[in-house]
Amino acid sequence: METKISEIADGIYRLSTYVPDIAPPAGFTFNQFLVLGDEPLMFHTGLRKMFALNRDALARIVPPERLRWITFGHFEADECGAMNEWLALAPQATPAHGATGCMVSLNDFADRASRVLNDGETIDLGGKRVRFIDTPHTPHGWDAGVLYEETTQTLLCGDLFTQLGDGPALTSGDVVGPAIAGEDLFNYSGLNPGMGATIRRLAALSPRTLALMHGPSFAGDGAAALNALGDEYDRRVRASLGEAGFAAIQAAAA
Ligand SMILES: [Fe+2]
Ligand SMILES: [Fe+2]
Repeated sequence: METKISEIADGIYRLSTYVPDIAPPAGFTFNQFLVLGDEPLMFHTGLRKMFALNRDALARIVPPERLRWITFGHFEADECGAMNEWLALAPQATPAHGATGCMVSLNDFADRASRVLNDGETIDLGGKRVRFIDTPHTPHGWDAGVLYEETTQTLLCGDLFTQLGDGPALTSGDVVGPAIAGEDLFNYSGLNPGMGATIRRLAALSPRTLALMHGPSFAGDGAAALNALGDEYDRRVRASLGEAGFAAIQAAAA
């Protein structure tokens, strides 16, 4: 296996490892993102067993011991399995995650105290600025959230839009159709009545780049893609609950 590096937005690097054995014949990618600034940040640590690959790839961009922030979308092995390996390597690094994730998992799992990020809270990286946005249970995980880099308008959207295959690092093509196919295959989302609205709220950011954890990054109208994905999940929730059930739950949540 090799880890390929691409700059998908100004100062944002994608470290991509393709695993042909997952969902063959298409295979599957695991992507980590490095946001460069005075305080370099990683979004996703990668799997613990891929740590050496990711460390060596990252070292081609920045000395790994300079990492300041270790972040990810939710507590799961591909998102944060190598967290403690990174913390051991980078003495200044601090894990940062949403309040739920810190309370439920990081306060126990992380070898160093975490910074708790409330919904909407930002970290100034010096030259870049990231905002944490809570997306509970979307696409999965009580602690789920995404990170938005404001200066480049890049949404680090984790497992949203998960697709198969080893596509290009950056595409302006369709990412919604392949995401629907990915959902059909894996059923990876925890369908919930608020899911469509949660995803459409991200559209209000009007991201210019969507950084997918499993798939190419997307350059283009991020709002349109997010609105279409949100509508697709509404359709799925509606189909599972029936119209009356969906309407009742939406009313109760309003
Ligand atoms: Fe996940
Ligand atoms: Fe993932």
